[in-house]
Amino acid sequence: EKIPLTLNVNGSKHALSIEPRVTLLDLLREELQLTGTKKGCDHGQCGACTVHVDGVRVNSCLSLAVMNEGKSITTIEGLATGDTLHPMQAAFIKHDGFQCGYCTPGQIMSAVACVREGHAKSKADIREYMSGNICRCGAYPNIVDAIEEVQK
Ligand code: FES
Repeated sequence: EKIPLTLNVNGSKHALSIEPRVTLLDLLREELQLTGTKKGCDHGQCGACTVHVDGVRVNSCLSLAVMNEGKSITTIEGLATGDTLHPMQAAFIKHDGFQCGYCTPGQIMSAVACVREGHAKSKADIREYMSGNICRCGAYPNIVDAIEEVQK
């Protein structure tokens, strides 16, 4: 049985009807076609699915969509302003903060939260805050450099 659900996603209101078992991740990717948010592990281990819910970072694979009634979701698609990249997106490009790019949307969403929440004061701080975002290519040093630049 489907349940009504109203969400604000990247500034647009969506009135949806969704089965209670559907995760926020699957809703974003499959109902709203916002495929920038990635499914890595689907059980809270990799961070590829990171989005912001009312400004707080969340692993969207661990959140049932229906738990987000009335909330505001920001995905990687919602970071840029028109053609202007978010400073964190620009910093990831400048510092080569990725290789294959699969983890990058989640990394950037966490990185934005890292600076916003004041956890980017040192490399050690950044590494700790970002420890839930796994990168198989090992781009970690460049990711930390990108975050440090935005923090400045
Ligand atoms: Fe959500 Fe890996 S897909 S943490």
